[in-house]
Amino acid sequence: MSILFEETSIGAMRLANRFVRSATYESRAAEDGGCTPELAEFIAETARGGAGLVITGHAYVMKNGKAGPGQTGVYGDELIPGLKQVAEKVHEAGGKVALQLSHAGGNTRPEWISGPMLAPSTFRSLHGEMAGQMSAAEIEETIEAFVRAGVRARAAGFDAVQLHASHAQLLHQFISPFWNRRTDAYGGSTEKRLRAVAEICGGLRRELGAGFPVLVKLSSGDFMEGGLEVVESARIAKRLCEAGTSAIEVTGGSRYPGAVPHIRSGIVSEKDEAYFAENALRIKAQIDAPLILVGGIRSFGVAESLVERGVADCIAMCRPFICEPHIVKRWKSGDRSRARCVSDNRCFFESYRAPPLRCLRGDGIA
Ligand SMILES: Cc1cc2nc3c(=O)[nH]c(=O)nc-3n(C[C@H](O)[C@H](O)[C@H](O)COP(=O)(O)O)c2cc1C
Repeated sequence: MSILFEETSIGAMRLANRFVRSATYESRAAEDGGCTPELAEFIAETARGGAGLVITGHAYVMKNGKAGPGQTGVYGDELIPGLKQVAEKVHEAGGKVALQLSHAGGNTRPEWISGPMLAPSTFRSLHGEMAGQMSAAEIEETIEAFVRAGVRARAAGFDAVQLHASHAQLLHQFISPFWNRRTDAYGGSTEKRLRAVAEICGGLRRELGAGFPVLVKLSSGDFMEGGLEVVESARIAKRLCEAGTSAIEVTGGSRYPGAVPHIRSGIVSEKDEAYFAENALRIKAQIDAPLILVGGIRSFGVAESLVERGVADCIAMCRPFICEPHIVKRWKSGDRSRARCVSDNRCFFESYRAPPLRCLRGDGIA
């Protein structure tokens, strides 16, 4: 049997195999962020298709942290019953599920949020609007909101939570020297830029206990001048694991102008795949916790070799699961041909323009 189908663990969470559905913004929630039956079905389908761990799309922990239409919310207790449907359906399918906790920071639009657009330092969003600099009190309020959201996730039956500290979302904006230009306790040295994330991790540990898995999706580099570099990111990963993080998912880049994107297109051969593997190796050398690798993995052989060579413990994919929610089952059944996803990113852009998220392969949309 392939090493990919071996059982594995993240903290106390047992996984049936090493396949992870990386967080995927589903754009299927109600206007207030509440889970809909359609959203629960969409998430559970990947668990039915054999993924050992399914990570939900980023869920906003505060109403001023929403990143797009139809995004799932986890900012209030009234959202727990809807979230329960997601956890129940994934469990019925025999899978495990983590809720990704997020805040868009300056990476949003005024019409998607209530309250002002805020970021660690003033920030020009992808859409050209300016976000203001957060006060220390606003930072503390946001840290608390992440912790309360983690408590809600557990109350709703989720097996784990993941902090979204990548792709130019708020926690990444704090970590990166490109976006964080503060000179107070939350900016400057690595330790200070990491402080908000470390305090959230500490708060989650305090509230959820030692055994509950807290994962972090971490940028391994911004790939732009003045941004986060892998050497610093590896130090951050080490520090997060010392603070009790259960697993690090390695990604990098963003859609910010000038950066290398985290969702690359043109993945046509095996050498284009696993585009953060080198950074993962640098991070793996610094941590004992499991490392999940995402980014362009499309071939069974590439995935297997990444685990066999010790680059990663788990293999995460996003776009291949949108195209083929049952790809793990297919590979397990013996059909090991490459993922059918063509990585043209039309699914991503259309999910904002004309939700809900779906695979657009072959439907003729230009
Ligand atoms: C439609 C779409 C939605 C995404 N939503 C999220 C998200 O909510 N949170 C997140 O951390 N990454 C998100 N990503 C990024 C993916 O999780 C993943 O890091 C990236 O697509 C690279 O992996 P892949 O080559 O397997 O698609 C999204 C990507 C796509 C294409």
